[in-house]
Amino acid sequence: VALGARSYDVLIGERLIAAAGAEIARRFPGAAAAIITDETVAAHHAGALETALGGHVACRGVIAMPAGERTKCFAELARLAEWLLEKGVERGDLVIALGGGVIGDLAGFAAAIVRRGVRMVQVPTTLLSQVDSSVGGKTGINTPQGKNLAGAFHQPSLVLADTGVLATLPDRETRAGYAEVAKYGLLGDAAFFDWLEQSHARILAKEPEALARAIEVSVGAKAAIVARDETEAGDRMLLNLGHTFGHALEAWAGFSSRLLHGEAVAIGMAEAFRYSERRSLCAAGTAARVERHLRAAGLPTCIAHIPGNSLPTVEELITLMGQDKKVQRGRLTFILARAIGEAFVTRDVDRQDLAAFMADEIKLPA
Ligand code: NAD
Ligand code: GLY
Repeated sequence: VALGARSYDVLIGERLIAAAGAEIARRFPGAAAAIITDETVAAHHAGALETALGGHVACRGVIAMPAGERTKCFAELARLAEWLLEKGVERGDLVIALGGGVIGDLAGFAAAIVRRGVRMVQVPTTLLSQVDSSVGGKTGINTPQGKNLAGAFHQPSLVLADTGVLATLPDRETRAGYAEVAKYGLLGDAAFFDWLEQSHARILAKEPEALARAIEVSVGAKAAIVARDETEAGDRMLLNLGHTFGHALEAWAGFSSRLLHGEAVAIGMAEAFRYSERRSLCAAGTAARVERHLRAAGLPTCIAHIPGNSLPTVEELITLMGQDKKVQRGRLTFILARAIGEAFVTRDVDRQDLAAFMADEIKLPA
């Protein structure tokens, strides 16, 4: 990821955790490390990372946070920041985030604020975090007002995406991560989307070659966008395709396992294409092709696919969208599309028109 003096490598491969101690010691001689993970990942992979650090990197401690989206909150951030200070983590040390996007975002935010900034290494263990959240330096937590509303930009110093750890990832989580893979095709790479239509079953089955290509293309796309617009003044907003709708649904569902982040993004991307088509921005049939693909990958594409009996109201969703970080002088920002692979950023969205669209979305049958 080319960011001048703060540039860093993203290594993608099958046995990177086993090699992590030597790799980290070579790149950051003399630095000690503290490992932040969650309870589920700890049971599968923390021992291997500790062993790998072994004689190469001094370990100041390992902390396993509760698994799940609700851990991205102020209370857990406070607990974690104080733990890092108690363990004597210094500015020159490394915070290692071993886990999915929840741990990466939370540990990254703690690393950004402890002693006004400690270096960090991301060791993403979900497909979602390997293709998206571990790269680009967005860190943060959720608040009752909405998703990722407190945070900081804090780039990692290294990302080790060990594809071998995905063997233990549950299928539902793999599918949720796949939504972010499809996002890169939908926002800017029609040829990649064509390939995904042929290859999604092999990726979801974690076939090494297909998986590695999907991760490499995704990370390459993200790295290029982050290099041109690190702090989201322009192009980086494209990475939020499906997120204005999706974040509102996640907040409405209470950041619970009822709706995973990647699932919310899948619904949000389908909505973005349906809305683009309704406004004649893209050709008839485009949204149906997007939906077909997401459904084939086992992802939800409309609000009726969210399990449970309750439905949101239009007012609830539009209020939640109003908390989006991309809102400017009260105007919502959307990522819409002219075609598959041709997304663009717009504030040209009339609230009444949006409300009418959302009313139809809430009524859409499963
Ligand atoms: P997650 O971190 O909650 O991980 C999903 C579940 O899988 C958890 O229960 C976890 O314990 C488990 N798990 C993780 N790795 C495992 C493994 N190898 N084997 C078995 N179980 C494993 O969720 P996620 O989908 O990785 O990340 C979602 C979060 O990422 C959201 O909070 C989202 O906002 C954030 N995100 C951030 C960015 C960014 O740029 N910072 C980008 C996209 C998403
Ligand atoms: N996941 C959106 C971004 O990193 O900008």
